[in-house]
Amino acid sequence: MNINLKSALPFIKEQEFADWQHKALQALSELEGRGGKGNEFLGWLNLPSSITADEINALKITAQNLSKGIEIVVVIGIGGSYLGAKAVIDALSHSFNALLPARKSPLVVFAGQNISEDYHAELLEILREKSAACIVISKSGTTTEPAIAFRLIKQHFEEKYGKAETKHRIVAITDAAKGALRTLAVQEGYQTFVIPDDVGGRFSVLTPVGLLPIAVAGFDIAALIKGAVEMEECTAKSEASNPAVQYAAMRSALYHGNKKIEVLVNYNPKLHFITEWWKQLYGESEGKEHKGIFPAGVDFTSDLHSMGQYLQEGERVLFETVLSVKQEQHTLTIPKDEQDLDQLNFLSGRRLSECNKMAELGTLLAHVDGGVPNIHIEIPTINEHSLGALLYFFEKACGISGYMLGVNPFDQPGVEAYKKNMFALLNKPGFEQEGAELRKRL
Ligand code: PA5
Repeated sequence: MNINLKSALPFIKEQEFADWQHKALQALSELEGRGGKGNEFLGWLNLPSSITADEINALKITAQNLSKGIEIVVVIGIGGSYLGAKAVIDALSHSFNALLPARKSPLVVFAGQNISEDYHAELLEILREKSAACIVISKSGTTTEPAIAFRLIKQHFEEKYGKAETKHRIVAITDAAKGALRTLAVQEGYQTFVIPDDVGGRFSVLTPVGLLPIAVAGFDIAALIKGAVEMEECTAKSEASNPAVQYAAMRSALYHGNKKIEVLVNYNPKLHFITEWWKQLYGESEGKEHKGIFPAGVDFTSDLHSMGQYLQEGERVLFETVLSVKQEQHTLTIPKDEQDLDQLNFLSGRRLSECNKMAELGTLLAHVDGGVPNIHIEIPTINEHSLGALLYFFEKACGISGYMLGVNPFDQPGVEAYKKNMFALLNKPGFEQEGAELRKRL
């Protein structure tokens, strides 16, 4: 992975950037020294290097067992218990995976990441015709959305397969001891994996939360971990060249120069959910005390035809971080056309990836000319190794950035407000008075 700040540096004074680099190094040492805010949630720092071959093996074996004779695995979870697995599986999968005539691994689909009746009814409709298994993930074990989805799936499984067989089709990933999901798993005899106490949801992709669904989808979790281990080593160094330090320093410098929105840009739709995962990581870690960069995302070149105008000429409060892929996996050249009505024969014989790269470079120059600083992050190709490194890189830079901002990057107190109102409006026992007050405001 390579980070290039050349197209962001002209937007800030040299000395200012040097100061931010210094602050980023201090934040790194606070993080590594485990003395800062939220230090009870720093287990993710050494997850890649501390996972053992036996643990990886146990996950692979469970993935194989869960996949035997199974067409669909439903992964239930929300937020950090969903986005990491979804991001990696989407990035590594065939773009039309669901339509492939033959798949080596079951199709992984997600539930409980919303409470849409349509979504879940349509999922159940599909499951009636298919042989399915389920991984249910909730660290707290009490989150409403996945709990509702799990009620539906459990009921469907028990009706279709019977109680005895259902327990072999379900794996639960939750807290070691606490929460309703742990109690239920023990009671029903489900196989379980533990989310460590010191790892928060959005930092949990390299625990069974991410690794088991990724292994079920047929991907190499050992290679993912290897990439992350290399990045763990590289980003532990107290050096200005540390890529996490560079990214955090530049983000902070731009934020304090009134660039309040960061847009993560990709040129490969496989990376769409990497952006969604990144949005949660940064949004939930930094957005507190009325501070923090607003994380947004675009898929180019698609969104150049929707958001391009704003990015080029709208409010100058944003900067872009381009997530670039050096080498695509396939080779496809543009055909020659005798008539050449579209006048594109000058491109015939050239690869689509060359056009995509020139679109990327052309856009970068245009946006910089339009007043949008650009940070450029390049991964060699989309595979398990590079994704493992990228995920850990973003996590590390997020911890550093949060400390530089002065917030606790590892809590999420603001998420509770909507839950309280939802329960009150649904007349949860104990919330009657709040419910009545809220209804008057509607
Ligand atoms: O990052 C977080 O902590 C959250 O996004 C949680 O992952 C999310 O709310 C789901 O929580 P749980 O795994 O407890 O169901």
